[in-house]
Amino acid sequence: MRATDNLRSDHALIERGLAVLRQMATHIELGGGFPAEDCALALLFLRDFVIGVHLHKEARLLLPAAAMHGAETIAQVVGEVLRVHEEVTELTHSLVLFWEPVILLSAEERLGFAETVAAVVSRLRRLQVVEEGTLFPVCEREVPVDDQLDWLQQFASIEQARGGQPVWRERIAPLAARWLV
Ligand SMILES: [Fe+2]
Repeated sequence: MRATDNLRSDHALIERGLAVLRQMATHIELGGGFPAEDCALALLFLRDFVIGVHLHKEARLLLPAAAMHGAETIAQVVGEVLRVHEEVTELTHSLVLFWEPVILLSAEERLGFAETVAAVVSRLRRLQVVEEGTLFPVCEREVPVDDQLDWLQQFASIEQARGGQPVWRERIAPLAARWLV
């Protein structure tokens, strides 16, 4: 398996987690009871898997290599991607703050929660389009295979602390079963 294939497969799992989060946000926005436990798990998925594992793997290995070996325009794309990484981290932090203090949200807070979820989801989807459409192919074409030899091993060590795909696929399966029907 190529390192980029590992990242593509992260994307598929992230897409599933985002679909759950969108459903939950719509439910909250429409005035449904706040699904505290499910929401906590979905936010943990964002914080630990999406940011702590996936974005970390890209920021540490793929993005610097693409910037170094790709054309000048690719370095600009990498800069933009890293900026969006920061936005995703900040937005996720706001979601955690929303959730923590109260279970009973006002109408305004419900809307704020849903808008923040929509902002995180749209940024992550934009990242996935840019990466799969531009950066992964650049990596596959331009980064010498020797340079990528230990990437999968390094990915595994990043995954160790917070859990990789198998762990998170299993953890979010009950959420997907409840919310994606
Ligand atoms: Fe990605």
